[in-house]
Amino acid sequence: MKKTINEILPSIVQLRHELHAHPEIRFEEHWTSDRIAAYLDSIGVAYTRGHAKGTGIVATIKGSGDRTVALRSDMDALEIEEDTGVPYSSEISERMHACGHDGHMANLCGTAQVLNAHRDQLHGTVKFIFQPAEEQAAGGRYIVEEGILDDVDAVFGLHCWPTLPIGQVGVKSGPAMASADFFHIDIEGIGCHGADPGAGVDPIYVASQIVTALQSIVSRETNPWDPAVLTVARIQAGFASNVIPETAIMEGTFRALTPDVRNRILEALPRVVEHTALAHRAKATVRFGHDPYPPLHNDPEMSTFAKETVQEVFGAEAFYEPHAASMAAEDFAFYLNKVPGAFLFLGNNPDASKTYPGLHSPHFDFRDEALPVGIETMSQLAIRFLKG
Ligand code: NI
Repeated sequence: MKKTINEILPSIVQLRHELHAHPEIRFEEHWTSDRIAAYLDSIGVAYTRGHAKGTGIVATIKGSGDRTVALRSDMDALEIEEDTGVPYSSEISERMHACGHDGHMANLCGTAQVLNAHRDQLHGTVKFIFQPAEEQAAGGRYIVEEGILDDVDAVFGLHCWPTLPIGQVGVKSGPAMASADFFHIDIEGIGCHGADPGAGVDPIYVASQIVTALQSIVSRETNPWDPAVLTVARIQAGFASNVIPETAIMEGTFRALTPDVRNRILEALPRVVEHTALAHRAKATVRFGHDPYPPLHNDPEMSTFAKETVQEVFGAEAFYEPHAASMAAEDFAFYLNKVPGAFLFLGNNPDASKTYPGLHSPHFDFRDEALPVGIETMSQLAIRFLKG
């Protein structure tokens, strides 16, 4: 298999660079989808298109056997102006593959190519899911709702991880990544002269009280052993330094590792916001975003299977088990709520003596050196799982 990977690597790296130069955001991955379809055509792997609101692709390789394993890559980019200086930098302004999804797509195409060349080793079917809109728009939910996992026995996905050295692969068994919810708060006060606050109701003062009161949810209403984060990320109010405005808006996000903690915050947030506003004669209303992500829980058995696969293929030291979950979110959680599986972290730091730019940084670039590791990991997970 290593020989096959070495042979296909130049074309996979070329594909990665092309995808990197053409970043497209949530549900707009049309060029990307065409490019992946063309690559799958070139290697003779069958697929269907039009999934998850249009740009998703599901390729299939059938071997002899009843079991089915799915492997997933996300496809979308971010609204960031690239500042890496690489020759294949983004050709589209304010669009960038700053989360490495270009690498994930190339990795999955490479895995399809390797498994197609070694299909005699497949004791079952492999589905390759190219999923749009991982960032903020829950593309993974549409894949699950379409029934693409209905005949699937296990699912694996991976994400490049800039704090992990290239050559290592990490899996955190159990709760591994957080839920993500987004909220918007409208505060209604009464505008007046900045010198006469008693004549009105100051929404900026109320917003400040709400920021402070919201922190009591994490510190006073949840168990300290159950991690949670609540962040007010945006406040907007007022136009002049001598006028108390009529209204203020606030926006933010909260994260949790279990459905229980997430539900507690969902209940507490409107209560704290509305009553804090009332205490100061204002009115506040809360709206939650349309696309919350559930917490991501790796199946313990599949995590052990992934760990053993990594250790047998690359050696014991190649495996890394993170001590703590990440409070970032990932819509692969929808897959894992449907089918057992695991989400792997693929080492992406080329020099352990230095920190590598983080995900969503304008300086981040997926590392091509990680591709052989990712392709072999995914290929072996599929072959070994189907063997049973
Ligand atoms: Ni990502």
